[in-house]
Amino acid sequence: MSLIPQILRSLKNLPPFPMVAQRALLLVNKAEVSIQELVDVVKFDPAITANILRIANSAYFGLRREIHSLNQALLLLGTQELLKIIIASGATRLFGNAAPGYFAEQQGLWRHSVSCALMADLLARELTLAEGNLCFTAGILHDIGKVVLSLFVDQKFAQIMEVVEVQGEPFHKAEKIVLGVDHAEIGGEMARIWDFPDRLRQVIKHHHLNHPESLGDEMVLLIYLADLLVLMFGQNLGREGLAYAAYPEVLNRFNLKERDLEKFLLHFGSLWDDAQVFFGLLGNDHGLQCAHRG
Ligand SMILES: [Fe+2]
Ligand SMILES: [Fe+2]
Repeated sequence: MSLIPQILRSLKNLPPFPMVAQRALLLVNKAEVSIQELVDVVKFDPAITANILRIANSAYFGLRREIHSLNQALLLLGTQELLKIIIASGATRLFGNAAPGYFAEQQGLWRHSVSCALMADLLARELTLAEGNLCFTAGILHDIGKVVLSLFVDQKFAQIMEVVEVQGEPFHKAEKIVLGVDHAEIGGEMARIWDFPDRLRQVIKHHHLNHPESLGDEMVLLIYLADLLVLMFGQNLGREGLAYAAYPEVLNRFNLKERDLEKFLLHFGSLWDDAQVFFGLLGNDHGLQCAHRG
């Protein structure tokens, strides 16, 4: 029996995207953001300010002096870094439940999403991407469709893996074959329901390069590459493991050689311990529950 009606019902029962993150999304890439605009974003959410201070004071940013206020954080880190922390912190409310279809461990999806965001941020700087500021956010949210699809994938996991193993399809294509829809498409639909900026919706929807047009979109390619590198890094592989389609043309598009990937992985490894503070955001803030079954 097709699971599509149940999947669509889950989408109807989608909780709202956390308000604080929604407002922050609108400020990413804005040329000038005033302290007042930032205060307006976080003022109804004291937990977010606490998270900002905790992360700003972590080894990840390596500041020499202690930060005690939002003002100071803004001054020392800059608006865009602060927005990343706010969006990551707000988004944790959607990642509170386990995602058993994809990850055996409780926080697997969150850890994967943060890893991808950090890797995307690193690549955006290395490759000087024009839309670099949006890459961290796109990394956090690229697999958001898994929040909804997880239980359905769990239910049909044996069939999905059979398609992966017998037909040699990557995991997301096997999802599509067995469930009729994959997590990237569901994520794109969630982004539409939540009224995300169009660029973000495109990246979420196409991050597995499932549409020929996506091969011409630098940010989509960058998120694809970040996702792949995170898998290569070997932490938190998840149940889909290495069933991931490889597109060598992505490396050509950015003029990258294998040794460049090794360099990125080394750099990422050196950030890894300091980045643990981002993983800790989830335990810090349990909010909305997501309805998986309608
Ligand atoms: Fe994905
Ligand atoms: Fe991913």
